[in-house]
Amino acid sequence: MAAVEIDLAGIAPGQRVTMKWRGKPVFIFHRPAEIVAQARADDDSPDLIDPARDSDRAVRPEWLVLVGVCTHLGCIPLGQNEGDSRGPYGGWFCPCHGSIYDASGRVRKGPAPRNLEVPPYSFLDDQRLQIG
Ligand code: FES
Repeated sequence: MAAVEIDLAGIAPGQRVTMKWRGKPVFIFHRPAEIVAQARADDDSPDLIDPARDSDRAVRPEWLVLVGVCTHLGCIPLGQNEGDSRGPYGGWFCPCHGSIYDASGRVRKGPAPRNLEVPPYSFLDDQRLQIG
């Protein structure tokens, strides 16, 4: 299936954008430095259900790229739009059964069993990202 190219230039720090890839939503979050610092400070938090280091989930710390599909039963978590409920970790909240993901896409409260998936992606240059 075709790869998708994204121009990052217009995505301001703090902004979240949703793309489509292979029929699924992909969440892109331009993370401000303080969000990255918090995500990394939480790397060893005991409430990580699917422990993972933030640095293994974001090639460039300021750009988080996730498949926007809850790992419980496949709903699309809230958090991409201003005013959405994002949960206490500033990430995403799944309205179907209440799973909470942090600003690294790691699940902090179930029933979701796994973190939001990081799709295969690469940077073509400073301003362009390719997913797939
Ligand atoms: Fe997200 Fe159930 S589908 S919590």
